[in-house]
Amino acid sequence: MKKRQFLGAILGAAAFAGIVPSAMAQEKPFKVGLLLPMTGQFATTGRQLEAAAKLYVQEHGDVVAGRKVELIVKDDTGVPDISRRQAQELLVKDKVDVLAGFGLTPLALAAAPLATQSKTPEIVMAAGTASITEASPYIVRTSVTLPQGAATMAKWAPENGIKKVVTLVSDYGPGIDAEQSFIEEFKSKGGEVVETLRVPLRNPDFSPFLQKVRDIQPDAVFVFVPSGAGAALVKQFVERGMDKAGIRLIGTGDLTDDDLLNGMGDDALGIITAYHYSAAHPSEANKQFVDAFKKANNGMRPNFMAIGAYDGMHVIYEAIKATDGKGDGPALLAAMKGLSYESPRGPVTIDPETRDIIQNIYLREVKRDPADGELYNIEFDVAEAVKDPYKEAKKNK
Ligand code: DHB
Repeated sequence: MKKRQFLGAILGAAAFAGIVPSAMAQEKPFKVGLLLPMTGQFATTGRQLEAAAKLYVQEHGDVVAGRKVELIVKDDTGVPDISRRQAQELLVKDKVDVLAGFGLTPLALAAAPLATQSKTPEIVMAAGTASITEASPYIVRTSVTLPQGAATMAKWAPENGIKKVVTLVSDYGPGIDAEQSFIEEFKSKGGEVVETLRVPLRNPDFSPFLQKVRDIQPDAVFVFVPSGAGAALVKQFVERGMDKAGIRLIGTGDLTDDDLLNGMGDDALGIITAYHYSAAHPSEANKQFVDAFKKANNGMRPNFMAIGAYDGMHVIYEAIKATDGKGDGPALLAAMKGLSYESPRGPVTIDPETRDIIQNIYLREVKRDPADGELYNIEFDVAEAVKDPYKEAKKNK
């Protein structure tokens, strides 16, 4: 019997008996539903996430443990109702094995009940509100929590001449997290927060808020704005002469996003931020990642969103391998918990208890690299293996 005939006979018999041989079952593709804001105000986030996920597949091959990995990208446009509907469709119609992406907190939260009901891992590659991982036991995060960045910044500031601060954040989950954890840590170190300002998430006009900061004249303004919004804020800060008036600009790394940093020009020089990823992170793994990302994307530089997607794909690949390509949702989830490896950002672990990421948070200053004339977030200090401070505080209560 020729091989094809033999296979045909087996398949026929299996179909007759209502069984699919396991070798055939494994040929079913492993589907990853990627929900991303590809259009609208947050399109830069979607573009970075998609590029990084595709780079990972390109570098590591699209067959893992006998399963062909298929990425299905959906544009959620940054709107939670659309994200929920698309997640539903991906689960029911496409029968995806994993949901991933989630460029904003409300999008990750919208899909969470579906992940729970369907027992499907939801890999949060971008959103940063600390409580997201509590919305479903199937959520695993590979981005960052805002308290990781904000609390690290709040420790540094009072040791560096900053005693009086105004906070200015986007008025939604990650902004409120950044504000609260900055205040708590900064006050405990003797700092004073004299005003807390919250600006709308959608189409913000920073000018009245910055004017208020200028009138108050603090030592520094601590800022959280989502990826993509930093350039407008920095421009207006300098236009108002706030830097010349001696007010320092500090924040989480969203402010000096690697994607947009060069476009900010000299205005961005000297801004200090704390975060988990810089394109200038000095490691061999990161150099390779940055070079490959730029090569595959017309010179575009990866930002902290990109590393969340790249590592998210790594976590998915490792879980497929660990379950030999046969794992259902709960088995994949179990394989992801406790995973530890060297990412281009530095060493990372998926906390087996919280499913959140444990990682280094770096302090960085924007500088111009004389070698290529470009602006970078240059790391000058590190807080190692930082667990999400929000969950740590809850545990200790
Ligand atoms: C979130 C979005 C961002 O663009 C960012 O930089 C950080 C957090 C969020 O919605 O969670």
